[in-house]
Amino acid sequence: MKLKTILAAALLAIGLSASAQTVIKFSHVVAADTPKGKASEFFAKKANELTKGKVKVEVYANSALYKDKEEMEALQIGSVQMLAPSLAKFGPLGVKEFEAFDFPFMFDDTAELHTITQGPVGAAMLAKLEPKGIKGLAYWDNGFKSFSANTPMKMPADYKGKKFRIQSSKVLEEQIRSIGGIAQVMAFSEVYQALQTGVVDGTENPISNFYTQKMHEVQKHLSITNHGYLGYAVIVNKKFWDALPADVRGQLEQAMKEATVYANKIAQEENDLSLAGVKKSGKTTVYEPTKEERLALKKAMAPVHIKMADRVGKETLQEFYKATGFDPAKL
Ligand code: LMR
Repeated sequence: MKLKTILAAALLAIGLSASAQTVIKFSHVVAADTPKGKASEFFAKKANELTKGKVKVEVYANSALYKDKEEMEALQIGSVQMLAPSLAKFGPLGVKEFEAFDFPFMFDDTAELHTITQGPVGAAMLAKLEPKGIKGLAYWDNGFKSFSANTPMKMPADYKGKKFRIQSSKVLEEQIRSIGGIAQVMAFSEVYQALQTGVVDGTENPISNFYTQKMHEVQKHLSITNHGYLGYAVIVNKKFWDALPADVRGQLEQAMKEATVYANKIAQEENDLSLAGVKKSGKTTVYEPTKEERLALKKAMAPVHIKMADRVGKETLQEFYKATGFDPAKL
């Protein structure tokens, strides 16, 4: 009798925990072996561990569920619960302050960037997503972008007339225009084919994205320009998040904290490994611009800061400039 009662209780507990399991669908557009791909898997594991199985995070990499624009809509209606879109994706959503991250040569290094993303300015920007039904949990690094194409790029004149795929961002559009290029907005999942078929001549991305999408197979030249930043905000559907039991939410916040440390630790390492991979492949010629060539690119792109200042708001830009010391007027 006693054994029966124990068994029944155990079965009930199993049944209960199985039915009480919360599933978080975490969708993203890049490969699993990128900084974002690895950090999302890390988070999934930690979340499961810390919630003792109450939460299961299912990670969908490589646009398996949604492409760039669709995934934001899916999050807002609750078809997926978690995303880590690039910061450029928030401008088209109407939160223009995020476009400050797209300004060329805004950050010299990760330390400058972290002053924003890990400080009060970054936190205030995430709070601006809440009226859109989105809760921002963290910033994850990827890295600095480089240009690729089928002809070498050293001086600004080398970019003239080339068609470059960009993310949907007015600032990035202006950046390409500043060097005489033609900007073509396109979903990330379509870039490889567009490069292969010549729909576009080139693109810009951190090397980890370039390499893991095999873009080096269809681009002859890569110029390590590090001209702009690409990173992420991890976001959740706010309604879903607020409805979680407080203890579970706390455990997930802890998992996110640890995943963020991990993400930001591996980002540069992953980009370095990818660069080594590109070089080893022998398919793309990697060029390191000289100091003079990089300065010429910086000068050519400086007017973007003036032209696009009103879009993101002077206040946000001033906060960024205070953190980075960048002064477009001095170039
Ligand atoms: C891109 O579209 O180039 C990036 O947003 C991809 C990513 O998420 O890193």
